[in-house]
Amino acid sequence: MIANSDQYEREDLVVPEQEKATVIFQPSGRRGQVDMGVTIKEASITLGVDIEGICGEKATCGKCKIRIEVGAFEKYGLESRLDSISPVKEGDRKYLNEQQIQDRYRLACQTDIIGDLVVFVPEESRTGKQVVRKAAGEITVKLKPAVRKYYVELAKASLEDTLGDFERLTEELKKKFKLTGLTIDYQALLSLQKLIRQGDWKVTVSVWQGKEIIKIEPGHVKKSYGIAVDVGTTTVAGYLCDLTSGELVATESMMNPQVVYGEDVMSRICYTMTNPKGLEQLNQTIIKGLNQLAGRAAVQAGIKRNAITDMTIVGNTCMHHLILNLDPAFIGKAPFPPALHHSLDVKARDLGIKIAPGAYIHVLPIEAGFVGADNVGVLIAEAPHRQDKMELVIDIGTNGEIILGNRHRLISSSCATGPAFEGAEIRYGMRAAPGAIEKIEIDPETKEVRYKVIGNEAWNTDEENLGTKGMCGSAIIDIVPQLFLAGIIDRTGRFKKEFDYPRYRVVDDQCEYVIAWAKETSIDQDIVICQDDVRAIQLAKAAMYAGAKIMMRTLGIDKLDKIILAGAFGSYIDKKSAALLGLFPDCDQKNVYAVGNAAGDGARMTLLNTDKRREADRMARKVEYIELTLAEDFDRVFSQAMWLPHMKDKFPNLEHLLPGKKETT
Ligand code: FES
Repeated sequence: MIANSDQYEREDLVVPEQEKATVIFQPSGRRGQVDMGVTIKEASITLGVDIEGICGEKATCGKCKIRIEVGAFEKYGLESRLDSISPVKEGDRKYLNEQQIQDRYRLACQTDIIGDLVVFVPEESRTGKQVVRKAAGEITVKLKPAVRKYYVELAKASLEDTLGDFERLTEELKKKFKLTGLTIDYQALLSLQKLIRQGDWKVTVSVWQGKEIIKIEPGHVKKSYGIAVDVGTTTVAGYLCDLTSGELVATESMMNPQVVYGEDVMSRICYTMTNPKGLEQLNQTIIKGLNQLAGRAAVQAGIKRNAITDMTIVGNTCMHHLILNLDPAFIGKAPFPPALHHSLDVKARDLGIKIAPGAYIHVLPIEAGFVGADNVGVLIAEAPHRQDKMELVIDIGTNGEIILGNRHRLISSSCATGPAFEGAEIRYGMRAAPGAIEKIEIDPETKEVRYKVIGNEAWNTDEENLGTKGMCGSAIIDIVPQLFLAGIIDRTGRFKKEFDYPRYRVVDDQCEYVIAWAKETSIDQDIVICQDDVRAIQLAKAAMYAGAKIMMRTLGIDKLDKIILAGAFGSYIDKKSAALLGLFPDCDQKNVYAVGNAAGDGARMTLLNTDKRREADRMARKVEYIELTLAEDFDRVFSQAMWLPHMKDKFPNLEHLLPGKKETT
C-alpha cells in the first residue's frame, strides 16, 4: 500500500513490479504506455499531449491541473483508480483547495503514475495553439549574401586530360569568376563525380563566403535560399529568403517546443541541471523544432528543404547555448559568463539541422550575461548606433532587454521582468492563443468592461459568448492602466474598497475585479484580475522602468527622444497602455514606435548581407553592458517605479490622460 502522507517523498513510492502503465489522456484520447513512477506531466510530454506548465515542473505556477477519472473503462480495457497515483503532495495543496482535491484534481507535475490511468485535461490546462505574432517587418539592406551560386561548363575528362574533377571545377571557377583558393565540403565532394556527369559537365556550385564549395547541383540552377531564425523563449520564427533577390518567400513560426520544460530561461537552465539528460533533451527538442520550421517554410515556398544553403540564428543567451548544446549552467549564476561571445559558423549537419548538408549556420554573437544574440539582432535592425537622437529600445519578453544611446555611446542591460507579460504568474494569464483576451477597456463611469478575444472580431458587448479562456500579454498590459484610469485601483496598485459595483468582490481576503463572467467563457469560471495579479504586473513593469531609469542616469540624460518597443508582441502592444502603466519614462507618444520582431529583422539582415554579420560582431563588443542590480539604489528606483505610472517622475506627455493631481493613494 501507499503511505497516506501529505509529506510524501518520492523514495517512499511503492512502484508495482509491472514496469509500464497505460495512460489515456482525455479529451484528446491520446494513449500510450509510460514507465511506472514518471509524473503525469512527463507522461504527457512522452505522449505528445499539451498540458500547461510554466515553472519547469517546480510546482510554482499551478497551471498544470488535471483530473483523475476513476472507474472501469471497458472501452480501453483498464481500470483507473485513485491509488494508481501518488498521494497528494505539498505542491498540490498550494494550488488546489480541499474541494478540488476531493474532486480528484491534482497537479500533473506533482503526481506520479503507479498504475493504469485515465487523465482528464481541463480546458484551462490545455496549451492550445499559440498565435505567433512575429510578422516580418520591412527591411532595407544591400544584397551581399554569404552563399552565392556559380554556373560553369566544364571540359569533359579524356585520356589526354585526366585532371581531377575538383581541380577541373576550381580551375574553371577561377578562370570565369576569379575565385581562388577554394576548398570543398566533404559531403559535397562525395556527390561531386556523380553530379558533374549527371549534368553532362555543366554544374552549379554554391560557394560559402567565397571560400568553400558547399553544394553542387547538375545543370544551371539560378535560385538560392537561406533562412533567418529568431529563437525566442516562447516563440520561434523563421524567415525564408531568396538570396538572389533578397525577397522574403515564406514566414513560418511556432511555439518554442521547449516550453513544456519551463516557460522562462531560468526554469530551463534549472531543468538541464536537475535532469541527467536535461541538456540533451532541450537541445534535441529545439533542433527538432528548427527542422520542422525549415521544412514548413520550404513547403510554403515550394522548394526542397536541402535547397536552403544558409541559416542565421538569433536568440537570447540561454536559447543560444541550448541550440549549440552548450551547458547553460554558468549563465544562470553570477558572474553569468557565456561559453563564447563571438559569432559562430557551424555546419548545419553538426547541429543536426536538416538543410543542405554542407551548409553553415551563422549564430550571431552574444553581448553579455542574458543580453544575447537576439538583442544584437535588434541592434542591427534598429541601428541606434547610427543615430544622433537618444533612443531607448525595449525588447519585451520573459527577459526584458534594453538598449539606450546613440552614435556616441550605447549601453545595454537585461532586467528580470519575469513571465507576467507572457501570461504566467497571472491567475487567468495565458499565451496568445485562441480564446485569450487581447484588448480590454473599462468604462470609468459604470466600471463595466469590454474586451476582444483572439480569433474573434467582435467585442464581448456585441456577442454573448466569445469562448474566453484567459488573457494574454497585450491585455495584461491594458488591464492595470484601465483599472487605474477607472478609479478601481489607486496609484500604488491597491484596490479601492470604498466602491460597490457588481464586478468588484473580495474572495479569500483578496480583492478582485471580474473581467468575464463564467457564462461568457469556455472554462465555466469567472475570469478575474486579483490584487496579486496587479502586483505581479507592477513588478514586471517596475523592472523595465527601473532599468531604463538607471541606464539614463548612467548616460547622464533625463529625456528620451525616441522609444522603440520590440518583441513578439511589440507590434500588438497598445503603446498608450504601456506608457500609462509606466513601462518606460515619459516620451512624446509620436516618438514611441512598436516595431514587432526586430530581432528577427536583424537575423534577416545578417542573412542577406555579410557586412551586417561583421557589424553585429563589432556592435556586440562595443555596447557596454550595465548590470542593473549593482546600482546602489536599485531597490529605491525599483520601488518608486512600482507606482502607476511612477511615484515621483513627471509625465508631461501623458498629463491629459492621467487622473487629476488629487488622485493619490
Ligand atoms: S505547477 Fe506543474 S508545471 Fe508548474
